[in-house]
Amino acid sequence: MFWLPILLVAAIGSAHGQQTAQTRVADELSECYRDPNLLNRNNLPPVTMQVLIDIIRKIEDNPNVNMDLRQLSTVLLHTYRQDGIEFHQPENTITSSNVLPFAPTFHAFHRHRLLLTRLIPNNLQVLANDTVSSVLKCTLHHMLSTTVDARVRGDESSCNMLSQYRSLRTARSARSISEDVEILKPAALKSATRRNGHMRHFDPNNDVEFSSFGGSLSERQVVGSTCPLLDGVVNTPWGAVSAGHLIAGIAAGAQPQQVNIFELVRDSTLNYRNVQQTVNSLFPATLSGDLAEAVLIQGTERGSTSISIGTAGNWNSTQATRHFMLQNRVNVEMTDPEIRGDIDGFVLGRSMTSLLGAFSSMKLSQLLDMYYSPRNGALDPNLRACNRRQLLPSYVTSESLISETYAFAAALDTNMPLRGTIVDGMEQLVTSAVTNLMTYATNNMNDMNCATTLTQSNDFRLNTHLYIALDSSWSYAAVFPAISHLIDSIEVGKFGSSITLLSAFDGSIIINTTHSLADFYAEYTQNRHVQIPNGVNLETSLNAIRLRMQDTLRNESSANYVGGNSTVLLYLINSGNLQVNSAVQEHARLLNDTVPDLRLLFASSNNQYDTLWTLVRDMYSDIFTINLNQAGTNVANAMQPVLQRIQRVGRRIVNPICGAAFAEGTSGTRQFIDAVEPGYVNFYALSANYFYVSDNVNRKVRISRSGAGAGSLIICSSRTNPQPRDNSTASNQDTAATACQTLGASGNVEISLVDYCADYSTISSCPPLYLSIRSDAELTAGSFASAVCTDASCRFPYNIRYQVQVEELGCWSGASSVTASFIFILASLYFTLKGSL
Ligand SMILES: *[C@@H]1O[C@H](CO)[C@@H](O)[C@H](O)[C@H]1NC(C)=O
Ligand SMILES: *[C@@H]1O[C@H](CO)[C@@H](O)[C@H](O)[C@H]1NC(C)=O
Ligand SMILES: *[C@@H]1O[C@H](CO)[C@@H](O)[C@H](O)[C@H]1NC(C)=O
Ligand SMILES: *[C@@H]1O[C@H](CO)[C@@H](O)[C@H](O)[C@H]1NC(C)=O
Ligand SMILES: *[C@@H]1O[C@H](CO)[C@@H](O)[C@H](O)[C@H]1NC(C)=O
Ligand SMILES: *[C@@H]1O[C@H](CO)[C@@H](O)[C@H](O)[C@H]1NC(C)=O
Ligand SMILES: *[C@@H]1O[C@H](CO)[C@@H](O)[C@H](O)[C@H]1NC(C)=O
Repeated sequence: MFWLPILLVAAIGSAHGQQTAQTRVADELSECYRDPNLLNRNNLPPVTMQVLIDIIRKIEDNPNVNMDLRQLSTVLLHTYRQDGIEFHQPENTITSSNVLPFAPTFHAFHRHRLLLTRLIPNNLQVLANDTVSSVLKCTLHHMLSTTVDARVRGDESSCNMLSQYRSLRTARSARSISEDVEILKPAALKSATRRNGHMRHFDPNNDVEFSSFGGSLSERQVVGSTCPLLDGVVNTPWGAVSAGHLIAGIAAGAQPQQVNIFELVRDSTLNYRNVQQTVNSLFPATLSGDLAEAVLIQGTERGSTSISIGTAGNWNSTQATRHFMLQNRVNVEMTDPEIRGDIDGFVLGRSMTSLLGAFSSMKLSQLLDMYYSPRNGALDPNLRACNRRQLLPSYVTSESLISETYAFAAALDTNMPLRGTIVDGMEQLVTSAVTNLMTYATNNMNDMNCATTLTQSNDFRLNTHLYIALDSSWSYAAVFPAISHLIDSIEVGKFGSSITLLSAFDGSIIINTTHSLADFYAEYTQNRHVQIPNGVNLETSLNAIRLRMQDTLRNESSANYVGGNSTVLLYLINSGNLQVNSAVQEHARLLNDTVPDLRLLFASSNNQYDTLWTLVRDMYSDIFTINLNQAGTNVANAMQPVLQRIQRVGRRIVNPICGAAFAEGTSGTRQFIDAVEPGYVNFYALSANYFYVSDNVNRKVRISRSGAGAGSLIICSSRTNPQPRDNSTASNQDTAATACQTLGASGNVEISLVDYCADYSTISSCPPLYLSIRSDAELTAGSFASAVCTDASCRFPYNIRYQVQVEELGCWSGASSVTASFIFILASLYFTLKGSL
């Protein structure tokens, strides 16, 4: 054992570069605590798994970052994770610009430090300061870094009402009081303090400082909030998850190693017997890390003989998920989000070798995207967050968890200043903690399971350009959750939908088109909202938006765009008594006629159906009254009809020749590539504007496979059902009007468009062709053979690609007639005359 100290020295030497492992706020992160704008979490994007994935994708796509999953997961932790940062009220109230009143003093820091220096060391540079913007950097830091902010906020009286924000789907059964409130057993407490009456002394030369002793007290130690904030948490449909633990599990599993326990021990003395020689770094990075903290802290501070595992909590908003409030202020070492992050991190870590074996170029963002998906999962449907409860017992036994935790607790004990010393009974405390974890995870964590997930989720994904024309007379508190719910549901993201925020007053751009959830949230803040021009002016805004849409059509034409995305314009209106004169109607009609693939929808706070019905394509389904409130509750219900309408708008298939002019022009043969996940379906719509007249050409759509992939594609078409399916039991079914064909591994399926409008006298009365392409493949455990979709355009490696080819599409538009503009001139004249009278 003579070589051990030498190893230790070497390890400490290399650890000095890690800013985030030091006992001060890392320089790169300090602006998150110094800049008042960044310090206020209400200015940062909500912390959700999709925002986390979006930021990770940005880092992966950054040309200066060239790292694989293994390297990136490690570097993310070393750059952005710093656990345990707490606020410390300076003793004199005069704040000095030389001192940041924050430092990593919460207990979580000590384990974090071991994690970065010994368990998941990094021999690469941390990411450059400008890899992501400051807003996203701070957001990422807060998603990854576990700490508890126990400052009294003033809203504690409403903490017991937080459960209203818990979505019904994840409702948990009532718990008994004894599970939530630690009951101090006076005898145990007494014996613990008796036996261990001495405080540890710390050598001032030690590099572990413990500033709460002697120095200023942390807020936690003065007066605590009854529902402290837990940081380092992201929201998912399957419960809040501590993302730092999740990424640590992945990083540890991607480079599995046994770490000698003496490398983790301070001063190389170990105070416990029968400790195993090495730990597998995956354990302390996830489950054992939190278990050991709970054992040491509860064992010394409360003299508990039963270690309490699990503390529930809730966000204080369903959509603006920025503040996670714990229901309890004691026993916060292993809270519910940490348990979830630990299990998910452990399971994915354990699976890394086989996952990378099956798909070696898997990206971190892809892994997370697959695991936190309602269907399919990480190359195996068992590897899904909804399956968490089954995963824990099948990936770890209590025995191995106990011996790994015991060893790590013994090591952590030598690193962490405690308020007492455990002289005996450590093994029993560890056993209690592990037993309680197993019971708690099985009985108390009632997150949405996979069966419910299937019934609550769709088997299709959207690819929608959503334009929202926003009336700023909505309060931000009421409208932000509604917008957020929509863009989360339509999956704004690199491989999905986009969002553009416009003004309902003049149609000007408030937030540019983006595929990035994180960027949208970073821009659409309360501050930005109050700068939006006030009021609604349909005449100005519809005209401006029409011109913009026509410009977009011209741009798409020059880019040879054949389709793949749908477009929806949604007015979100709060002002009452809108005026719709004939000029407004004319603008709506022009939009209707010249941008045939755009759906115009209106959602207003009071019923304005009688005014708005003349402006839309389908007055029965395109106008909504929505009831939003200041507290942001009930958003999913309020927005459900709007969301369903957006979901029914099919992806466009267009003739790129038409542009905005819709002058005569045939497409010839053109195509685009799209992809569908196993078991999913994509819906398309082809407007009559492209096949109105049958002029003796062989106009058709042809679908063929583009690359490998399991199973067949089922292609259905309909003129009446926007979402045609081959399953006659499925909803919305009109079997008589739906025709389906099967496309195997080769060949193609053709749909002829000849004489499609023979029975209709106008373009606008002739219905579109609705098309669906469904994969009948099923991903099962062990069925993933190899990645069939690996280039940059593939969201998932099992995506099945196909080609949509159009032949001889034409261009006809309702606006190409003279009457349209003639009526418009008359109308304008009328209003000019009327105004001057
Ligand atoms: C990182 O960038 C921010 C913003 O550009 C700057 O304020 C900060 O000083 C930089 N931090 C370091 C450590 O360079
Ligand atoms: C949630 O609580 C935080 C902290 O008190 C507060 O700043 C924020 O405004 C609250 N958010 C909502 C939506 O109520
Ligand atoms: C269509 O959506 C994809 C993302 O799914 C995006 O990459 C592409 O740019 C979009 N196309 C157009 C023309 O907007
Ligand atoms: C939108 O993007 C363009 C070009 O990138 C930029 O010039 C413009 O300022 C942006 N507009 C807004 C409102 O951000
Ligand atoms: C169309 O393309 C031009 C030139 O690239 C660009 O300036 C304009 O902003 C684009 N318009 C839209 C609506 O995207
Ligand atoms: C728009 O077109 C539809 C047919 O597609 C028609 O029923 C509707 O009346 C038109 N709306 C307007 C405002 O022109
Ligand atoms: C049809 O749909 C029902 C319910 O959605 C499902 O149970 C059944 O398996 C489906 N059948 C086929 C052939 O896909």
